[in-house]
Amino acid sequence: SIAFAGAVQAADYPSRPISLVVPFAAGGPTDVVARTLGVEMGRVLGQPIVVENKLGVGGTVAANYVSNAKPDGYTFFIHHNGMATATALYSNLKYDPLKSFEYIGEVVDVPMTVLGSKDFPPNNMQEFIEYAKKNGDKINLANAGPGAVSQLCGSLLQQALGVKFTTIPYQGTAPAMSALLGKQVDVLCDQTTQTIPQIAAKGVKFYGVTTLNRIQKLPDAPTLDEQGLKGFEVKVWHGIYAPKGTPADALAKFNGALKTALKSPAFTEKMAALGAEIVSEERQTPESLQKWVKSEIEKWTPILKAEGMSVN
Ligand code: MLT
Repeated sequence: SIAFAGAVQAADYPSRPISLVVPFAAGGPTDVVARTLGVEMGRVLGQPIVVENKLGVGGTVAANYVSNAKPDGYTFFIHHNGMATATALYSNLKYDPLKSFEYIGEVVDVPMTVLGSKDFPPNNMQEFIEYAKKNGDKINLANAGPGAVSQLCGSLLQQALGVKFTTIPYQGTAPAMSALLGKQVDVLCDQTTQTIPQIAAKGVKFYGVTTLNRIQKLPDAPTLDEQGLKGFEVKVWHGIYAPKGTPADALAKFNGALKTALKSPAFTEKMAALGAEIVSEERQTPESLQKWVKSEIEKWTPILKAEGMSVN
């Protein structure tokens, strides 16, 4: 019978490798979380999790790809704030973040940092503010396109300073970081999951963190808020999704594996070293993620529309 076939399938699941789609370049902040998590979840599920980087258009190419993927329990998706901001930024999205996906749960929260190239003149945030006001569009800001948190953070920074930089988009902040290290661009706002090693290696200038409070991993690093940009805050959250219609048993197994992986020492230690914070157990649930995406859409849509940040 069909019910029996379904039960056999559920017991066998997963019987082959699972794809985890990452919307930005390999080696970048989202990719690092996905690959570290994938190894641990693969162990729990008994099948490898294969990371697939689907690049382009600020993460929307990947979201669209996943919304159209076969809902068979073998495709999942990790995405950040861009899941909620893209609707305000793009008028022609072919997916709906509230209707085209199943929700698994949240993963980590990640602070951002504002960096300059070694050739960029300002040595601290006070100098950055003065320099930005004088030089405006002579300053090149790298980001990963509208829908990327590097773009969100960079836009809020320009707005706070009342300046307009020249924007140089990449398909993730891994290539944007290479450009910063190569001094081809001046400024990058990026997640600590990629920037902490670069800050430690002193390959970049570092102006501050984007959370309201200082972070444990960089206790001497001042916030932007305490350096004159009152109330400046960007915090990145990461969630996991599946195509709409994915079988409930696959969703439940994947969620169980997520919860186990989030407790594993390999994952927690690596995330702590990179300044990322594992979300509370309550947030590791589909219901919580769905509610959160909805609230983030409601929060950011008016802000992004008022700022004229829409791209089409
Ligand atoms: C990445 O993984 O490349 C970043 O998360 C892109 C971004 O800035 O949103």
